[in-house]
Amino acid sequence: MKTRITEMLNIEHPIIQGGMHYVGFAELAAAVSNAGGLGIITGLTQKTAPDLANEIARCHDMTDKPFGVNLTFLPSVAAPDYPSYVKAIIDGGVKVVETAGRNPVQVLPYLKEAGITVVHKCTSVRHSLKAQEIGCDAVSVDGFECGGHPGEDDIPNMILLPRAADELEIPFVASGGMADGRSLVAALAMGAEGMNMGTRFMVTQEAPIHERVKQAIVAATELDTRLVMRPLRNTERVLTNTAVERLLEKEKELGANIEFEDIMEEVAGVYPKVMLDGDMNAGAWSCGMVAGLINDIPTCQELIDRIMSEADGLIRQRLEGMRTA
Ligand SMILES: Cc1cc2nc3c(=O)[nH]c(=O)nc-3n(C[C@H](O)[C@H](O)[C@H](O)COP(=O)(O)O)c2cc1C
Repeated sequence: MKTRITEMLNIEHPIIQGGMHYVGFAELAAAVSNAGGLGIITGLTQKTAPDLANEIARCHDMTDKPFGVNLTFLPSVAAPDYPSYVKAIIDGGVKVVETAGRNPVQVLPYLKEAGITVVHKCTSVRHSLKAQEIGCDAVSVDGFECGGHPGEDDIPNMILLPRAADELEIPFVASGGMADGRSLVAALAMGAEGMNMGTRFMVTQEAPIHERVKQAIVAATELDTRLVMRPLRNTERVLTNTAVERLLEKEKELGANIEFEDIMEEVAGVYPKVMLDGDMNAGAWSCGMVAGLINDIPTCQELIDRIMSEADGLIRQRLEGMRTA
């Protein structure tokens, strides 16, 4: 398939794997890129810039195709050394950076000067327009359904994507709730040039996370995610578990007086425990409503091939077959 995004990113299929903390290691990024999509290494999962440089080198060893690095700007206890991460990305010959959280204005000039394509992921039309204004090449529009941080506007993709299409000049991909050929065709119909998936790519053979995490997502339905940290205006969509229910109880009890320190136990340092050790109740971890559409653990190649052939069938048979004139 050829879209503005496949052309811009030099990939075969308009499918991106969004950055995911403690999931987006070189193994997954390379597998997605080898299957014709764009795999993304999660920058901040690497503790230091030299670690990131090493992860980028490992990814180059596993694929000759383009891949990206995610740089997330979120409130954190100790701010990461972004300039050295940017240097590792540039020196590593990475072609695409996915930015997220705050807009990437502070790092954009360096990335652009190095000829890197910047796709900013955000959750609203106004933030997408800001990204366009400061010179990002594309945006990833993340709807309310998404796993991770959906922002505070709560606009689902059925509205958000056509709104983005009406306003934006730069290309965008649909993110949040995307799982299969139906998602891709719907996203394209609403004006997107492709799709970005997080949760779906966690449940693949190559995702280097504990088997229990994959099984938990397969077992989950669309009713099993919760929104946490809403009172702190740092909303995160996570899969429910005992820690999440405890966290929500604290939010209810403490109300507007809640502070980050009150929920440290449920949110700090959780990812390695869940993703690497399979400690499923260690705390709150991101997961999208799309869990309800995930029922198997394919390879990335099988998943992407299936999405593309399903999309082709939908366009050629179902949609074309409905035409009357
Ligand atoms: C486990 C997990 C961790 C994530 N970590 C990050 C992250 O560190 N940075 C980021 O920009 N997005 C992160 N995301 C968001 C994804 O990149 C993507 O935008 C989102 O998953 C899309 O929604 P979906 O899960 O419905 O596909 C994460 C998502 C998940 C499921």
